[in-house]
Amino acid sequence: MTHSKQKRKFGCLDLDVAVLGQGTWNVETSDRKEAIKALQKGFDLGMTHVDTAEMYGAGKAEEIVSEAISGRRDEIFLVSKVLPSNASKKGTIAACEKSLARLKTDRLDCYLLHWRGQYKLSDTIEAFEDLKCDGKILSWGVSNFDEDDLDEALAIAGEGKIACNQVLYHLNERAIEHAVIPWCVKHNVAVVGYSPFGSTGGFPKDDSPAGKVLKEVADAHSATVHQIALSFLTRLDILFSIPKAADPKHAADNAAACNLKLSKADIEKLESAFQLGRRPGSLPMI
Ligand SMILES: NC(=O)c1ccc[n+]([C@@H]2O[C@H](COP(=O)([O-])OP(=O)(O)OC[C@H]3O[C@@H](n4cnc5c(N)ncnc54)[C@H](OP(=O)(O)O)[C@@H]3O)[C@@H](O)[C@H]2O)c1
Repeated sequence: MTHSKQKRKFGCLDLDVAVLGQGTWNVETSDRKEAIKALQKGFDLGMTHVDTAEMYGAGKAEEIVSEAISGRRDEIFLVSKVLPSNASKKGTIAACEKSLARLKTDRLDCYLLHWRGQYKLSDTIEAFEDLKCDGKILSWGVSNFDEDDLDEALAIAGEGKIACNQVLYHLNERAIEHAVIPWCVKHNVAVVGYSPFGSTGGFPKDDSPAGKVLKEVADAHSATVHQIALSFLTRLDILFSIPKAADPKHAADNAAACNLKLSKADIEKLESAFQLGRRPGSLPMI
C-alpha cells in the first residue's frame, strides 16, 4: 500500500514526509507492548514520521522506538532531539551517538535542538553540520524557536539548512500563527506542531462552547473530534503534526484524519470558536 497522499514535502528537504507523525513523550509510562503496537499500527497506516528525544524517559522512549521500527527502518522518518544542556559542539555529537545506539540505527532523518539553552547556537549548528557530513543525520532542525531565534539560526546557517521548527500547536494554542508560521513559509522551513491535543487531558471538552463547535464539524464529516483537530492543524502545506498515542485504537483514529478535507467554512468556524488571541510576549512551550 502506498500513502503518497498522506505525505508532503518537508520544508527545504527534497523529501516527502508523513503529514501526521507520532510523538513518544511519556510513551515509556504506558504498557510497553501496547505502545509498540500503537506505533506499528500508525506506521502501517502511513504515520511513518516518528518523533522522539533523548529527554523522553531519559532514553527509554528511544529504546521503545527502536523496537517499533525494527525491520522497517527505511520506511521511517526518524527524528530525535538533543537537550540544550548537551548542545555544545562536542556534547551534541556525543548525544547524537548515544541516541543512535539506543535507537539501534546508523542515522537520524532529522536531529533537533530541543529548545534554546546556554550554549552558543553556532556551536550546536556546527555540530549538526559535522553530523550531516558524517552521515549520522540527514538533516537538522530546531524546536521551540520564536521568530528572533529563527533569524539567528538563519544568519548562522544560511537558507536551505533548517529543515523544521517543532513548536506547540493545538486548537487552544495558536500563537505560532502570528509570526512563526509566516517566517517558516517565507524560508521554507517545515512547521511540526507538537501536543496537537493539548497533551494528556488538555483536549477541548465536548460541552464547552468551542468544544460544541468542534463536535458539530466532526459530526458533519462523520469523523472524530481528534481527527478534525489534526485536519485543522495540518491545513497548510507547511504544517505537520505529531500526535502521541500509546493506544493502538487512538493511532488508527489519528491516521484516518489524513482522509479528511475541511472546507473553508469549517476552517472559519473553528478559527472563530478557538480564537487566535493576541501575540504573546514569548512563544509558549510545554
Ligand atoms: N519539542 C517539544 O518541546 C515537545 C514538547 C511536547 C511534545 N512534543 C512531541 O509532541 C508529541 C505529542 O504531544 P503530547 O505527547 O504532549 O500530547 P498530545 O499528542 O497532544 O496528546 C496525547 C494524549 O492524547 C491521547 N490521544 C491520542 N490520540 C487520541 C485519539 N485519537 N482520541 C483520544 N485521545 C487520543 C493520548 O492517549 P494514549 O497515549 O492513551 O493513546 C494521550 O493521552 C510528544 O509525544 C512529543 O513527541 C515535543
